[in-house]
Amino acid sequence: MSSKYMQIIEEVKGQLAIGKLYAGCKLPSVRHLSEQFSCSKNTVIRAYAELEQQHVIYAIPKSGYYVVNEYQPNEHAQKFIDFYSAGPDINALPYVDFQHCMNQAIEHYKEELFTYSDQQGLYSLRVQLASYLQSLQVFTQPERLVVVSGSQQALNLFVTMPFPNGRSNILIEQPSYFGIIESIALHQVTAFGIDLTMEGIDLERLEYIFRNHDIKFFYVIPRFHNPLGHCYTNSEKKKIVELAEKYDVYIVEDDFLGDLDPNMKADPMFSFAPSGRVIYIKSFSKVFLPGLRIATVVLPERMVNSFLRYKFSSDFNSPALSQGALEIYLKNGMFHSHLKKIKELYRNKMQILQEACDLLLPANTYFSKPTSGFYLSIFLPKNVTAKQIVHMLHEQQIYVDDASRMFLPEYKKDNILRLCISQVHESQIKHGIERLAHCIDSINSRKHPQAPKTFLHQNV
Ligand SMILES: Cc1ncc(COP(=O)(O)O)c(C=O)c1O
Repeated sequence: MSSKYMQIIEEVKGQLAIGKLYAGCKLPSVRHLSEQFSCSKNTVIRAYAELEQQHVIYAIPKSGYYVVNEYQPNEHAQKFIDFYSAGPDINALPYVDFQHCMNQAIEHYKEELFTYSDQQGLYSLRVQLASYLQSLQVFTQPERLVVVSGSQQALNLFVTMPFPNGRSNILIEQPSYFGIIESIALHQVTAFGIDLTMEGIDLERLEYIFRNHDIKFFYVIPRFHNPLGHCYTNSEKKKIVELAEKYDVYIVEDDFLGDLDPNMKADPMFSFAPSGRVIYIKSFSKVFLPGLRIATVVLPERMVNSFLRYKFSSDFNSPALSQGALEIYLKNGMFHSHLKKIKELYRNKMQILQEACDLLLPANTYFSKPTSGFYLSIFLPKNVTAKQIVHMLHEQQIYVDDASRMFLPEYKKDNILRLCISQVHESQIKHGIERLAHCIDSINSRKHPQAPKTFLHQNV
């Protein structure tokens, strides 16, 4: 009997794949299929129930079953090699678990989730978040947390809103996350850069900038930096926070991938000044579901009200349905087990990528070596630009990112590629790097002789 059940499911999916069934289309009646497959009506009803559960079809009482959407072929992803997309691995997204939480949230909160809600974020979620943040060594109270619509919203608000130090200039690492560079450009705010390599930043230079340039805040991505993959040591973080204290500069710490850190001893900057010098941001986009548009910020008490005014004027409140479901997902331990799984997954992919780079990239090409995270940067030889490689690989349906857009205009470098491992399939990594190495070789051989190895790039 179970084989008839499977046959019916396969038959419906097969018809969808060839376009015979399409969105809104009515399926054959239960009686019709039970005759066609010589099985009981009950078997057909069970097969349809399974397809409903998979969101392939839906039922209208007293009318019949209908198709939800067009066929979405899975093998599409295999046709190209994607080192470009920076969302989480779609095969590791916990749809079904999260669906339970969504249903529970609607059941539990009812209309509360579908009207305007607390502009600071659901209190019950903030309680869960405060408890989760402890695992990242961020100890704080729900009253200092604000739930935001993605960390990008918080960054954009920080760029524009006044800070208690009364200043307006911003300092960012170079390179840095493209989203903050866009906000700075759009709001025409004065920004300074400080060079970041895999060896960190020059702390004397940092002190000079803090002392002389009226800095409102220093935006830092302390772990698995985007795009370099760099992590600061605890003593560097401590020193940066001390300098910030000394010169009355705020630190905006974007710990977007902190949850993936295999080093359990790594502390966030927040832990060196928990009462207000460091503003801590935790996104759920990379380690969970970016479509939820949920992140949280931990603010100094004196900034909570002002931040809430700016946030209110931008969107009233963040999506309450996402908040209710995330609260349940955190509370019941599902997030914890999801994290365990993805920590392993991304670390493994990062290792495979580094082994391939080690083995295949030409001697005059260097790459960063993060222990986990999403991003790794490749530093091309002087005579090769990232733009050239992006173009050549694109023609072979291999996608990588040109990191030049991740610099402020005055600091731009055009020979860095960013590779992201989150959406590429493990089995494709080596082949992708082989093709990349081939592109570099072919430009190398048609232009200048290979540039000599320099010490400067050796450890990046
Ligand atoms: C370093 C960094 N911060 C923040 C964000 C924005 O994330 P969210 O989806 O939470 O707005 C990104 C997205 O790529 C990022 O790379």
